[in-house]
Amino acid sequence: MTKNDLNSVRNCRVCDAPIEAFMSFGQQPIANGFLTSAQVADEYFYEMKPAFCARCCMFQIMDQPAAERMFHGEYAFFSSTSRYMQAHFAKFAKEAMETVLAGRADPFVVELGSNDGIMLGNFKEKGFRHLGVEPSSNVADVARAKGINSISEFFSPALAERIVAQHGHADFMSAANVMCHIPDINGIAAGVKTLLKPDGVFMFEDPYLGAMVEKTSYDQIYDEHVFIFSALSVQNVFARHGLELVDVAPQITHGGSMRYTISPKGARPVSDCVAKQLAWERGQGLDNPATCDRFRANCEASRDQLLTLLEKLRQEGKRVVGYGATSKSTTVTNYCGIGPQHVEFISDTTPIKQGKLSPGAHIPVKPYAAFADNYPDYALLFAWNHAAEIREKETSFTAAGGKWIVYVPKVGIES
Ligand code: TYD
Ligand code: ZN
Repeated sequence: MTKNDLNSVRNCRVCDAPIEAFMSFGQQPIANGFLTSAQVADEYFYEMKPAFCARCCMFQIMDQPAAERMFHGEYAFFSSTSRYMQAHFAKFAKEAMETVLAGRADPFVVELGSNDGIMLGNFKEKGFRHLGVEPSSNVADVARAKGINSISEFFSPALAERIVAQHGHADFMSAANVMCHIPDINGIAAGVKTLLKPDGVFMFEDPYLGAMVEKTSYDQIYDEHVFIFSALSVQNVFARHGLELVDVAPQITHGGSMRYTISPKGARPVSDCVAKQLAWERGQGLDNPATCDRFRANCEASRDQLLTLLEKLRQEGKRVVGYGATSKSTTVTNYCGIGPQHVEFISDTTPIKQGKLSPGAHIPVKPYAAFADNYPDYALLFAWNHAAEIREKETSFTAAGGKWIVYVPKVGIES
């Protein structure tokens, strides 16, 4: 694939049924493509249009930029920047050790999209044989520097075979916020089947369609998130590859996620939670394309309200600063038409983003001190998925009269 290729479909990536976009988020840049002013002229855009497959219930974007444009040697996303996420993965790893891995002799653990080792570090510490698969070499380097075994390649059935040849089959596999990135999900599922032991377990978590529809958190949709999963769609994908959805567990991370547990069919008992979740999803219409029309209307209302609010504050001469240069915020700024005229800069703790411009909207990204040393009137909470952690940390901002602008689940001002 060349860098210019769009992964563009007219048929469902899972089941091949014809699909059509039900709305457009307009021209969008690479969500993590923070850039210098010299790079603005060559910035890449594509039209972001979501679709829903009526046959297998998979929510997906029609066109996805080539993987090489998104995940490369300068990938700007480092998992370990959030304290809460570190605690989340420590707990996830502990649960796997106490359930799936308990009593197994010399188990082998594989993580897909292991990033800077935030999850695998927990296994490494306890002496587990482990391997991380992380295509973005700069983040994998960070993991390697911590002694976490990592290879910088895209996961595929062929790679699964090579891993088996070198290390044997996996007892436990995990993936967090990565399965929804991979357009060839059938290839991944086939690779998981190849790599797992007959009684192996694969657990993965990703932003949850049920939460996105409920909260109108349309910013979960961006180039990297080619899919937004539900239990219905996940069950359908893995069933095609001799694998079974045996458990589901809602997570508060990333603004509402779901953890799916997958095993070779018949290998493990299926939890009652699966049937309950599937019934809840049918009740919410997550098996029904009409739900997308409702979602679209909610997105449009949210966009109009947020832009109206920011325009009003601009006319009043208020200072508004963005908090957290998230990937999600790229969808929001570009869909709503938010630019430096509304948001003076975005404060972010990730060094690689600082001094750059936000993708598409070209709002300057500055270190945290720029916010903390000169509080604005309003902080636009782009990192809303970390609201609890941030609100706790920023009590002096609100004590000084600063207010938060939020847009999930509703547009509003909070003090
Ligand atoms: P993240 O939650 O991973 O969202 P996305 O997947 O949409 O990119 O990113 C959070 C971003 O916010 C990251 O760039 C770090 C930044 N951040 C801060 O600047 N301060 C904070 O207190 C927190 C929690 C995050
Ligand atoms: Zn389908």
